Amino acid sequence: MTLPSLPSTVVPLRNRPAWAALTDHFTKIRTIHLRQLFADDSERSKRFTTETLGLYFDYSKNRITAETISLLIELAEQSGLRHHIDAMFAGEKINITEQRAVLHVALRAPKSEQISVDGTDVVPEVHAVLDKMAQFAEQVRSGAWKGHTGKRIRNVINIGIGGSDLGPVMAYEALKYYSQRDLTFRFISNVDGTDFVEATRDLDAEETLFVVCSKTFTTLETMTNAHTARDWMLKAVSDEKAVARHFVAVSTNRVKVEEFGIDSANMFGFWDWVGGRYSMDSAIGLSTMISIGPEQFSRMLSGFHAMDEHFRTAPFERNLPVLMGLLVVWYNGFFDAQTVAVLPYEQYLKRFPAYLQQLTMESNGKHVTLDGNQVDYQTGPIYWGEPGTNGQHSFYQLIHQGTKLIPCDFIAFGQALNSLGNHHDLLLANVFAQAEALAFGRTAEEVRAAGTPEWLVPHRTFEGNRPSTTILAERLTPETLGKLIALYEHSVFTQGTVWQIDSFDQWGVELGKVLAEKIVPELEKADEPSLKHDSSTNALIRQYRQLRRAKD
Ligand code: F6P
Repeated sequence: MTLPSLPSTVVPLRNRPAWAALTDHFTKIRTIHLRQLFADDSERSKRFTTETLGLYFDYSKNRITAETISLLIELAEQSGLRHHIDAMFAGEKINITEQRAVLHVALRAPKSEQISVDGTDVVPEVHAVLDKMAQFAEQVRSGAWKGHTGKRIRNVINIGIGGSDLGPVMAYEALKYYSQRDLTFRFISNVDGTDFVEATRDLDAEETLFVVCSKTFTTLETMTNAHTARDWMLKAVSDEKAVARHFVAVSTNRVKVEEFGIDSANMFGFWDWVGGRYSMDSAIGLSTMISIGPEQFSRMLSGFHAMDEHFRTAPFERNLPVLMGLLVVWYNGFFDAQTVAVLPYEQYLKRFPAYLQQLTMESNGKHVTLDGNQVDYQTGPIYWGEPGTNGQHSFYQLIHQGTKLIPCDFIAFGQALNSLGNHHDLLLANVFAQAEALAFGRTAEEVRAAGTPEWLVPHRTFEGNRPSTTILAERLTPETLGKLIALYEHSVFTQGTVWQIDSFDQWGVELGKVLAEKIVPELEKADEPSLKHDSSTNALIRQYRQLRRAKD
């Protein structure tokens, strides 16, 4: 089969000339300290800062020189990145293992644009769904949409998991400042019944609307929670007709939605060319739109679109997602960095690292190339993080003085949404200080000069030379959020292109699902089942059955 997305000239990563050149270059640069790089070049900050779309992107505190960047860009070119970007925007089926186009960029395309999949322009369909969402969102927000018993909807519960949950929760938290405060939003994802019970315990079913989000409408967790929600609703309002007023669905699977009993008039669709982890700006964002309103939602889409256009058109040396993705390739491939920490100094972004975990790791956690060969290099790093300053009092010790190299992305804003005394200056002083401390550290001489006893000097020394990138924007708005998310989406794309993997499938989640389906009847069976797993799994199942009996 021919690979639709890559030019035939793309050779395996290690055989690309730029990779060999980077390997050489790395041996020269690996021991050079950021202290020296800054001392040698008074223009360094300017040289390695790009300001675009209102994002000040300072990557000067990375272990790079101008040569590193130009070699990384050569690598991107030799990896067919330009061609791959064009292929994505042209609706080619670059998700080759599922034979699907990858067109989350169409979700935020303005009405005037045309983006075709299999010869059909999808932009009008996207806008038709957005219009339907807007109409519904306004009805809920204004109180015009009533529950079955005539009460106003006051609670909106999103049921979904993975991409059908993480985006909605993250966006709700991130944009809470802009939300309609007389509506309560909850999110149920885990099949652990506690998630459902705690989310609903203080709510009046008659005032509650469930938004059931599932691309496939077959996901075990979501379907289980949706059925439990229906039972919960019908217990309070004993009339099947209530389902129509209290449940809406977001899915690509009309048949399954109807089977569940949700009227397809209350269904908001999307398309197989939207991956779950790339879907928060599709109808999966319905709860977000109810929360912030259609106008702010559309500002968020403009932010996404601005970054899409930047990614598509900007030269690689000034292209934020390309630079960000190439830095990941650099640390991952040469410094053996296993992780990337994302550290937003903005409380509203508290769920941003969790959201990025699915985006990055489900996308680039792959061990074979597009043509099915085992990779002989590292692919997707582990993304993780917490908002600052909390992380400083938790895991930053390891980043500063541990034995692992952890490149950090710091994200901060010039203006606080909630201005309170000098809180914001203190917050920002901390983010700048952390990046400075990581890069420059504190030498033994400096520690001694501060009067530290000799035995304590090694403990108080910071070797520094720990890389970070700082992204500074004016204010967290829906538009800025859109830009930030698209920045990471396209950074993931850049990484996946260099590694020549399919960033848009997720076969790795399948096996566990299949095995769980097999185990469920073994747990539910009244008689002792005959178990054919390995001895450990057999014993765990027996032990569970026994423990459960002990409760009865
Ligand atoms: O199990 C992984 C996954 O397929 C994700 O890719 C997806 O976001 C999630 O499950 C939820 O899937 P769905 O939206 O079809 O319920």
